[in-house]
Amino acid sequence: MHFLTLLIASLSIAGLSHAQDVISDTGLAGPEVEIVHRYNDQWPTGITVSRTGRRFSNYPPGLDVNNTNDGTNNKYTVAELNGNDTESPYPNAEINNPPGGAINYSTYPATGANHQTHLIGVQSVVLDPLDRLWILDTGRALTPDGTLVPASYGGPKLVGVSLANDTVIQTIVFPPTVAFADSYLNDVRFDLRANLTQSGKGIAYITDSSSEGRNGIVVVDLGSGESWRHLNGINEVRAERGFVPYVWGVPLYYVSGPGQPLETVPLGADGIALSADGEDLFWGPVGGRTLYSIPTARLRDRGLNSELLAQAAVENRGERGVSDGFETDSNGFIYAGNMEQNGILFYNPANSSTSTFVRDPRINWVDTSEWENSLVPEKCSS
Ligand SMILES: *[C@@H]1O[C@H](CO)[C@@H](O)[C@H](O)[C@H]1NC(C)=O
Ligand SMILES: *[C@@H]1O[C@H](CO)[C@@H](O)[C@H](O)[C@H]1NC(C)=O
Ligand SMILES: *[C@@H]1O[C@H](CO)[C@@H](O)[C@H](O)[C@H]1NC(C)=O
Ligand SMILES: *[C@@H]1O[C@H](CO)[C@@H](O)[C@H](O)[C@H]1NC(C)=O
Ligand SMILES: *[C@@H]1O[C@H](CO)[C@@H](O)[C@H](O)[C@H]1NC(C)=O
Ligand SMILES: *[C@@H]1O[C@H](CO)[C@@H](O)[C@H](O)[C@H]1NC(C)=O
Repeated sequence: MHFLTLLIASLSIAGLSHAQDVISDTGLAGPEVEIVHRYNDQWPTGITVSRTGRRFSNYPPGLDVNNTNDGTNNKYTVAELNGNDTESPYPNAEINNPPGGAINYSTYPATGANHQTHLIGVQSVVLDPLDRLWILDTGRALTPDGTLVPASYGGPKLVGVSLANDTVIQTIVFPPTVAFADSYLNDVRFDLRANLTQSGKGIAYITDSSSEGRNGIVVVDLGSGESWRHLNGINEVRAERGFVPYVWGVPLYYVSGPGQPLETVPLGADGIALSADGEDLFWGPVGGRTLYSIPTARLRDRGLNSELLAQAAVENRGERGVSDGFETDSNGFIYAGNMEQNGILFYNPANSSTSTFVRDPRINWVDTSEWENSLVPEKCSS
């Protein structure tokens, strides 16, 4: 595994206050880190790599106002990476340019625009086992003064793109009972096994990391397009009250908008990963250090007792550190960044413990990551 490149999008988080001087940590461990791309314009939170080596990133306007499309500035929320320092809007410029911009100022207060056919504010781009690119739109964006607007129906959606012809092949719009106006659909994983659903097209699992606190896991039937929530608002999907991470040696607090007082990091279930056999789903809130899991059958169940059974089946897997995006490998290890140690750790379900994979001072806030090697993540495509 040390010969593979784990491509990481590394960043610091907007809205978090870190005014003091950066304290450097020169610790090194694990494989050597190589810079493969420099983002010179917009600020990304994720990277995904196709079987043929094409790379894609997303730039959430819900985290950086410089990513917000105002209808005139040609900002994009998804791009393909060209070479080592340029990017182009993906799958095209038009879908990244909602008419009138990402924010609807004709409502009071302003809201996310309602275009089902355009991207508003994308928090993740992830390839599935068939090498289709899925774009997860929160439907939310920051206004120039730093206010995160609520979503409108049409904004929060999952959009599938064929890499063969760079064309949208499926759009699943979430109803307001699944993606609330104050939801923040953060990250997504796919299990395409035909026997999981009647429609036979597989399932997507999504974290709702909303800083407003109505966190949960969203489940999507990719055949019928139906979606539903589980683990609504339980402690394990929410930020811990009073949680303070230490990034670059500095305690980090959070500002939710202009004129708002400091609070502790309120971000809930964010990083997500499937076990190598698809039978367990792992997640972790950014506002906490614990790794949680649940058997995926409990999330697919929609019966009368399904939420009771789901809550009863949540497992605490111990401390993972402070992290954002996750990744899995064929050993069944679950990888997560470690913001407090400039690194990436992995959890081994076989011995229920966490080990260091890599540390480097240039790694400071790892978000959605992907192995650049088609041999590694087969990810439940049987
Ligand atoms: C937005 O862009 C401006 C101009 O390039 C830059 O000064 C500012 O730091 C950026 N803001 C954020 C939050 O990245
Ligand atoms: C990008 O590629 C060019 C041309 O090969 C090279 O000169 C440059 O150093 C590379 N930059 C990075 C960040 O690797
Ligand atoms: C903006 O909001 C108005 C009022 O709800 C609505 O009629 C219109 O369709 C919205 N437009 C967009 C692009 O969201
Ligand atoms: C693009 O390719 C997909 C298969 O990857 C196919 O289903 C779709 O019809 C194609 N769309 C166009 C416009 O050719
Ligand atoms: C689906 O089939 C796989 C074998 O391909 C099996 O391991 C798994 O238990 C089945 N899952 C369900 C939900 O029936
Ligand atoms: C758990 O397994 C990993 C991977 O084999 C190993 O590196 C680590 O040392 C093990 N941890 C413990 C506490 O045995």
